Amino acid sequence: MADSKEYLTIALPKGKLFAPSAELLCKVGYTAEGLSDKSRKLIISNEKKKIRFIVSKTADVPTYVEYGAADLGVIGKDVISESGKDVYELLDLGFGKCHLMMAVPKNQKRGRLMDYNHTRVATKFPHIAEDFFNKQGMQMEYIKLNGSIELGPIVGLSESIVDIVETGTTLKENNLEEIAYIFDTTARLIANRVSFKLKFEQIHQIVTDLKRLQAEGEE
Ligand code: PRP
Repeated sequence: MADSKEYLTIALPKGKLFAPSAELLCKVGYTAEGLSDKSRKLIISNEKKKIRFIVSKTADVPTYVEYGAADLGVIGKDVISESGKDVYELLDLGFGKCHLMMAVPKNQKRGRLMDYNHTRVATKFPHIAEDFFNKQGMQMEYIKLNGSIELGPIVGLSESIVDIVETGTTLKENNLEEIAYIFDTTARLIANRVSFKLKFEQIHQIVTDLKRLQAEGEE
């Protein structure tokens, strides 16, 4: 394999953000044959254009970018905040819109947020949750889960959850109600800080092309 410095390496997350990310990058000329999040192949290259894609678990994208294993990445603002990784946020891509919030079982709703002080909260985002509750002057017990967070209060693991909501369907189907908004999130284009300097022209061009696309979409 040729030296990785010759390539521009882009980390894409598996799951909901994969298709819109791959589609958008393709529109500005960045794609590769066989690029899919279903592929068992973990690095997909376009030898002609010297582009490589890493397809990884959502939570790992900021790690690849922070360490420079990928020059660029696409990932939700929620995952960037949770990771605490030092990456350069280049552009809000606009898709993957959802928000983080706290929810509780409808039939066990307490009067005020403070009434949940010193209770257990199940979440995929313990750092974001802790930051939020600290600001409210609350001390909580954080139970880290990796998916299906809504199960927490249903099976008595926790009194509440902190999770992302997109359409609200999952909350509704599990008789949960949002009681506190935390922040909005969308997909972001991120860069490794060193790559941004070393490959400035190429990265700057991608950002310019993506901004142009966004502007055309708004017309
Ligand atoms: C996310 C989130 C909620 C759901 C919200 O889960 O954790 O469960 O989406 O979407 P909705 O408001 O449109 O119902 P995801 O599908 O990413 O899977 P997960 O259970 O593995 O977290």
